[in-house]
Amino acid sequence: MAVVTFDPGHARFVKAGSRSFFLSTTDGRVFHLLRTTCPHRGGPLHLGQLDASRGVIRCPWHDNDIPLRCLERDAAPLVMRPGSATAVLPDPGGEPITVDGRLILATQR
Ligand code: FES
Repeated sequence: MAVVTFDPGHARFVKAGSRSFFLSTTDGRVFHLLRTTCPHRGGPLHLGQLDASRGVIRCPWHDNDIPLRCLERDAAPLVMRPGSATAVLPDPGGEPITVDGRLILATQR
């Protein structure tokens, strides 16, 4: 595993090796770092439409509503503090970790 801290006000995407995550919130208070790939056929969920009242993201590929509670199972653990977000990421297997496409040079194990 790897731990990365980033500014949630300026970054939304985290990638650890082949796994990509995006920062999502339904109410501006509780945040999740969800996988970008749809569990159906791998569609780009970060481009989906969030319906907070129903607790779903509509995937742009097949218009299926994916429940957030299902996505949270594969979410990266996340701790939010004012001005920072710290995530525990799966082991990137020697691949780089990036935040919004910028390489992270220092991580903790
Ligand atoms: S890939 Fe997301 S609904 Fe099919």
